[in-house]
Amino acid sequence: MPAAVGRVLEQVLADRLARARALDGRFAQELAAHVARFTQEGGKRTRSQLVWWAMRACGGAGEDSVAAALRIGAALELLQTCALVHDDVMDGSTQRRGRPALHAEVRDRHAEAAPPSRAARFGEAAAILAGDLALAWADDVVAELALDPWTATVVHRLWSDMRTEMVAGQFLDLQGQLTGSRSQPRALRAAGLKSALYSVERPLALGAAVAGAEARTLQALCSAGRCVGMAFQLRDDLDDVFGDPARTGKPCGGDIREGKPTYLVAVATARAAAASDRHARDVLERALGDPELTPAGLEEVRDVLVRTGARAAVEAKIGRLAAQGLRHFDGAPLAPDAGGRLRELLAAAAGSRAPGEPPARPHPEPSPAPVGPGTPEVRR
Ligand code: IPE
Ligand code: MG
Ligand code: MG
Ligand code: MG
Repeated sequence: MPAAVGRVLEQVLADRLARARALDGRFAQELAAHVARFTQEGGKRTRSQLVWWAMRACGGAGEDSVAAALRIGAALELLQTCALVHDDVMDGSTQRRGRPALHAEVRDRHAEAAPPSRAARFGEAAAILAGDLALAWADDVVAELALDPWTATVVHRLWSDMRTEMVAGQFLDLQGQLTGSRSQPRALRAAGLKSALYSVERPLALGAAVAGAEARTLQALCSAGRCVGMAFQLRDDLDDVFGDPARTGKPCGGDIREGKPTYLVAVATARAAAASDRHARDVLERALGDPELTPAGLEEVRDVLVRTGARAAVEAKIGRLAAQGLRHFDGAPLAPDAGGRLRELLAAAAGSRAPGEPPARPHPEPSPAPVGPGTPEVRR
């Protein structure tokens, strides 16, 4: 199935690149080709697989449903390119999927031709444009879907809501960072908007809509998607601190250095205050938002997250969300085979680990290892 989306993407991108070339060779080569490559090399295609299996599980089978699900999957991959390329500018992250982030790559390419600050500025500007281009192409694909009028109305509404939710979530995330928010409800709200909805719930709803699922099924899938999507983002937050960069494709500690108002940090702060643990509070306050935080400083933060019980609390919450999501899922009347595949995908996206199962945490700073064939892939 990921290969089928890959083929649709190939067609769509070849067409867009040809049109970009006709417009201007430099633009095509230095910007449009970046968007195409980033999207084609892709992550693990979670969102497009969710659309596909939700469509199948809801009984979609005709040629029209198949074509629409694949094209919506391709559009979601393009939207993901926009989200990640912009996110790395906003978060000041220099690595993505194990390579330089797009803005960093463009900056480095111009490092000799311009002073560092101008090259960096140009890298960010190019990344803004690249993200815009990916979003425009994603919107084109959705606008060009051949759907009956009712399904088109539902799909376009879902797509439009999803895009706005993502922007709202990213805004809340950054605003919370600026104000140093340590509120747990706010952290969960931002996580739901910036990630849970567009990563899981909306892809499920789009697949179900294409298949013409009835309201009860759609509702059960949405509830499942919301829980699983939240678990997915909480796992991403844990992986940022404790994960293995060789698996996540991003360096450790980015959220801490940026001062991200994650749920993990909000829980740790609340627990440190409740236990009058001054040392933990000081470590967190010093480290959060410190761009120069050393590996030893990050290790101290890890210890605080473990010692306050924040890490275990977030693991437990992920487990509860995963279980709750799957309970909602099991309430939906779905086609057995495709439903089984979808259930597996959701369980994997929820990233729940069995109690006692040690998460990968190479310490101190891990040496980058090649991704082995059996290594679970967690990159976005
Ligand atoms: C942002 O969340 C999600 C989107 C890109 C919309 P993060 O900022 O946590 O994403 P990563 O961790 O950099 O992938
Ligand atoms: Mg980020
Ligand atoms: Mg971000
Ligand atoms: Mg993250």
